[in-house]
Amino acid sequence: MLNTSEHESVIQVCHLNHWYGSGETRSQTLFDNSLEICCGEVVFLTGPSGSGKTTLLTLIGSLRTVQDGSLKVLGEELREISQPAAINVRKNIGFIFQAHNLFESMSAFQNVRMATDLIGMPRAESRPKIEHLLSRLGLADRIYAKPRFLSGGQKQRVAIARGLIHGPRIVLADEPTAALDEQSGRDVVSLFREMADRDGCTIVMVTHDNRILDVADRIINMVGGIIKNDSVLRQTENICSFLRKTSLFSDLTPRTLTDLASNMETREYSTGEKIVTQGDEGREFFMIAQGRVEITRIREGRPETINQLGTGEYFGEVALLKGQRRNATVIASEPTTCYVLDYDKFRQVLDASDSFTSELRKAVFERV
Ligand SMILES: Nc1ncnc2c1ncn2[C@@H]1O[C@H](COP(=O)(O)OP(=O)(O)OP(=O)(O)O)[C@@H](O)[C@H]1O
Ligand SMILES: [Mg+2]
Repeated sequence: MLNTSEHESVIQVCHLNHWYGSGETRSQTLFDNSLEICCGEVVFLTGPSGSGKTTLLTLIGSLRTVQDGSLKVLGEELREISQPAAINVRKNIGFIFQAHNLFESMSAFQNVRMATDLIGMPRAESRPKIEHLLSRLGLADRIYAKPRFLSGGQKQRVAIARGLIHGPRIVLADEPTAALDEQSGRDVVSLFREMADRDGCTIVMVTHDNRILDVADRIINMVGGIIKNDSVLRQTENICSFLRKTSLFSDLTPRTLTDLASNMETREYSTGEKIVTQGDEGREFFMIAQGRVEITRIREGRPETINQLGTGEYFGEVALLKGQRRNATVIASEPTTCYVLDYDKFRQVLDASDSFTSELRKAVFERV
């Protein structure tokens, strides 16, 4: 127990329900949620106010009693867990919550040291670690300041340092960058990313900050107490990482890329299946995620193969750019998966990316 290796699941939520209140005022907040988070993953949790994000986070942190369903953290079932076992789980977690709760009478340094004292780290060992972490978070000249002399964003960073200083296996953070400017916010999530990559620390973070979404491995959306579309988002990420490798999309910002990927539909074709028919109206653009296609054109009444395309290549742009009907037929020559973009989104990407536009124009020129 409390052991995990890479790719092992560290958080397993299974059919989790949660209610607040009792009797007549009892109302359900979480509805039948299931979710698995692996070692070293950086997961962002988004969703409207009141959708249950903090509730889920506090349940995972064993700060709240699991009422119904199953919730395993670091291999421990939290439902009906004993107090000593729950304390043991919590020791492995770094909490960064919305209200920073710093002790006013203590300096930034002392506030952070509370966390290392709690786990019994010798002070000679903790001192350089605390100084290093606070400096890393941009507080080098504020290490011995008391909270009343710190700005909201600085206090927030002290609270972040306090949540991270003991080298937790899991970090649960509730809007940790909300009070921070763009650069400080990015510094914090970069630190999270580093902890995940270097130490296999698992990060679950509530955020509404769409400037930092590119740091996440997964983005989970919660609406009305239900985790939405995790699988769809996973697919978006897959598409994103595919597109990132394609020179066609090389100058798109992570945000535009994510937006583009979330608008692409995945379609599977079996061998011999027609994907595009010559003469049809062209309303879509295709990227080959995996497989091969053959491009044929009817010339003098006979079909003639004019090209073959494979993984990472694309087709369909000619009709879209020129507003013409399809000038060729495209058939899957093996089981093929395509990412498909509709016309409106295609136009938006054209507007957003110079390299996309020029590469496509070149291709149109070469292919016609
Ligand atoms: N201690 C509580 N007692 C009763 N109801 C609660 C309690 N905490 C939260 N709720 C209710 O549960 C629902 C989910 O709250 P939660 O704090 O999990 O939402 P959230 O997604 O974190 O929202 P926000 O983005 O505003 O922080 C809300 O309707 C809220 O009013
Ligand atoms: Mg909340």
